[in-house]
Amino acid sequence: MIIDLRSDTVTKPSPAMKEAMLNAPLGDDVFAEDPTTNELEQRMADMFQKEAAIYCPSGTMTNQIAIKVHTKPLDEVITDKLAHIYNYEVGGYAYHSGVSIKLLDGDRGRITPQQVVDSIKPNHDWLPNSQLVVVENTCNKGGGSYYQLEEIAALSQACRENNLKFHLDGARLFNALLAIDKKAADIGPLFDSISICISKGLGAPVGSVLVGDKESIGFARKVRKVMGGGMRQCGMIAAACLYAIDNNIERLAEDHRRAKKLEEVLAKQDYVSDILPVDTNILIFEIKDELPGPDFIQQLADQDIKAIEFSKQQIRFVTHLDFTEEMLEKTIQVLENIKY
Ligand SMILES: Cc1ncc(COP(=O)(O)O)c(C=O)c1O
Repeated sequence: MIIDLRSDTVTKPSPAMKEAMLNAPLGDDVFAEDPTTNELEQRMADMFQKEAAIYCPSGTMTNQIAIKVHTKPLDEVITDKLAHIYNYEVGGYAYHSGVSIKLLDGDRGRITPQQVVDSIKPNHDWLPNSQLVVVENTCNKGGGSYYQLEEIAALSQACRENNLKFHLDGARLFNALLAIDKKAADIGPLFDSISICISKGLGAPVGSVLVGDKESIGFARKVRKVMGGGMRQCGMIAAACLYAIDNNIERLAEDHRRAKKLEEVLAKQDYVSDILPVDTNILIFEIKDELPGPDFIQQLADQDIKAIEFSKQQIRFVTHLDFTEEMLEKTIQVLENIKY
């Protein structure tokens, strides 16, 4: 039994998900004729109370398309310093959209309306134009931290009052919604666009969806094509996403519970020096220098547990659909017996 805690992207389609994929009606999605992809896009748009949606191969692509749609060269994007769009998307904001980025010093990835307003640049020839705010919910590098709905609403209002577009990197949005007990329809209207990954906690093998208004998504289709992301009979993978949104949203509660249990166990271990509060399915903790990160990872690997050193002496575990109760028990036993 291999236990993979590196990410919630490691899940494999279940037999029932594969069955749905095999039976999906198919067409050519570049002609917008794939019925399964069309159904997924319509369902996601409706769920978030948006006019339209577009299915893309990855969350990086949906985020990058959103930045392209909302900005022009010489604009600036305002976001937190931990944001995925800044840290892990290869500087795509500059490459694809020719924009600069203003980083805010938030609380585990969460920013406030005041920080946004204070970062808006005056209109001078020598300054970029503040144009777009991007928030990440839950925030990966923040240890799965999430916003309350009122906090998002206040940010949304600040953006509207200051003519800023507002995009949500919702790679793990359903984890956040579960944590605050809200629905997609509660959050959708607060943003100009939202990217949702179906291939993370929800367990589909491929794909993310960007929701927004008709005009933005119309342009997004062109941007997806120029990035080489126009897919043909992608109903086979869209079917897995439909299966995931029908079957795998509510069960995220199990991932949160198991992450919390691992936090309790780690809190009792001498080799652990710090743990970020565990709010959803991500657990980030630090281990003491006496136990070098690579040694810790190796001890886990020797017992068939995969994890990553997120940064020096900092370890990340992510719980997911394929991390079972039996695996939780085994992981606890291994963590309690680390040689230190
Ligand atoms: C918060 C966040 N946004 C976006 C992405 C990008 O998703 P993908 O790996 O599908 O490009 C990730 C991936 O880990 C993520 O954690």
